[in-house]
Amino acid sequence: MLLTPTTETDQWRALQAHAAAMEGVTLRQLFDDDPHRAAELSIEAAGLYVDFSKNRITAETRDLLTAVADAADVAGQRDAMFAGERINTTEDRSVLHTALRRPRSDSLIVDGVDVVAEVHRVLDGMAGFCDAVRSGEWRGATGAPISAVVNIGIGGSDLGPAMAYRALRPYSDRTRTFRFVSNIDPSDLHEALIDLDPATTLFVVVSKTFGTIETLTNARSARAWLTDALGQDAVSKHFVAVSTNAERVSEFGIDTANMFELWDWVGGRYSVPSAVGLSLMLAIGPGGFRRFLAGMHELDQHFLTAPASENLPMLLGLLGIWYTNFLGAETNAVLPYSDHLSRFPAYLQQLDMESNGKGVDKQGRTVTVDSGPIVWGEPGTNGQHAFYQLIHQGTRLIPAELIGFVEPTDPIGDHHDLLMANLFAQTEALAFGSDDDDPQRRFAGNRPTTTILADRLDPETLGRLIALYEHKVFTMGAVWGINSFDQFGVELGKVLATAIAPELVGDQPLTHDPSTNALIARYRRTREH
Ligand code: F6P
Repeated sequence: MLLTPTTETDQWRALQAHAAAMEGVTLRQLFDDDPHRAAELSIEAAGLYVDFSKNRITAETRDLLTAVADAADVAGQRDAMFAGERINTTEDRSVLHTALRRPRSDSLIVDGVDVVAEVHRVLDGMAGFCDAVRSGEWRGATGAPISAVVNIGIGGSDLGPAMAYRALRPYSDRTRTFRFVSNIDPSDLHEALIDLDPATTLFVVVSKTFGTIETLTNARSARAWLTDALGQDAVSKHFVAVSTNAERVSEFGIDTANMFELWDWVGGRYSVPSAVGLSLMLAIGPGGFRRFLAGMHELDQHFLTAPASENLPMLLGLLGIWYTNFLGAETNAVLPYSDHLSRFPAYLQQLDMESNGKGVDKQGRTVTVDSGPIVWGEPGTNGQHAFYQLIHQGTRLIPAELIGFVEPTDPIGDHHDLLMANLFAQTEALAFGSDDDDPQRRFAGNRPTTTILADRLDPETLGRLIALYEHKVFTMGAVWGINSFDQFGVELGKVLATAIAPELVGDQPLTHDPSTNALIARYRRTREH
């Protein structure tokens, strides 16, 4: 536990002085001064090649940042997480998503239980179930095999599997349909079911708590859709659950024999490698899922063992600190040059913003500097024709990460070379700009980017990328001394919505603020007509 906030250490002050000295230094100058810069500031590890050289840093910045990491004891906090210590202090929980991808031969005893053995017990159960569905051995209530899988969950119980399914679609069973329903907006469920046949549809209801109103509401409506067509007994053949809460699963009417377990030490936004990834495993098969876990584990080992100056997630996180706290950046763009990664920015929004969107540290003290950045992004090249204008010529500093792959997933003509030419061109244009007498046409450059390059987007690489960002987020939270693993900020809205829902029908007096009262009253009136 950090007694002194990192922001009050000598290392932090040294970085402040360095930031002042760096003011006005441009990327062009930095490249002119050091012809070896690109090589010196690029790192290849755990199957990823990361070029940090187009950032507004020098080797000295990197060293001062790693000194800040030392002052914050990022390595000690990391080791405590991997060892299963209860670093989620507000909920008194271990944080062990890294145990979800440890090999069978490992063991980690936490509170007298070997959590790695537990993980593999559940993985084996998932694999058996997925094999049965994929082979056609698992039959629906009418005896027909399953041809469509509908994942019902929200937040971490949706974004992870939905993003990863989309990313790995080329590795998926193309004979089956996979859909993801999350929103309580009835249109989401309606559209997902519109062309499906109840006799061949399997619902995977994913909720860590099994108490989330959106998921339970969608699951109840899905159950009605099924039982209207096939009768009550069909539920056991068409509904499986993923949860920590067997009692609620059973109350809902799903046989706990068809429940895949996770544990309170898996945070929702860190849960895709757990049973929460069941729909992904159904799509890419147990073998593909194990490759995905192997990629995550490889990156975990890198995070655990590489020195800070060569540690990819630590450096990414420290760069985040540099831009947020020393250069005044408010947002962080993530720009994947792969259409298959179209949901990756949305996934990272939850991962980063739900983890580090906090203003109080573990000791309850106000964090006196900006914490978690606003994360956003869209795949290139689409973004180039939409919002890149602002990144190139706007008034804000927007550090961006561009993610690309050497090999195309779906080779058609020269599309992939053109795609990657755009990625490289954007990093060049953003860093170096171009002169023009006309200020409207001038590109000032000096806009920082980090390029993350991998050979191909396969299950291992996706696993590595997810773990890379998980540990980046961890590093930033550790520097700020905040608990990245709770999410009390989402609770108040849920409580108020529960209170408002019954007030939308009827005419009981409204006791909210005048704005909310007027909105509810207008809704009531219009609905009545
Ligand atoms: O509302 C936020 C949240 O608690 C997320 O952290 C979580 O991923 C999501 O809701 C879903 O929770 P559950 O898996 O318990 O339904």
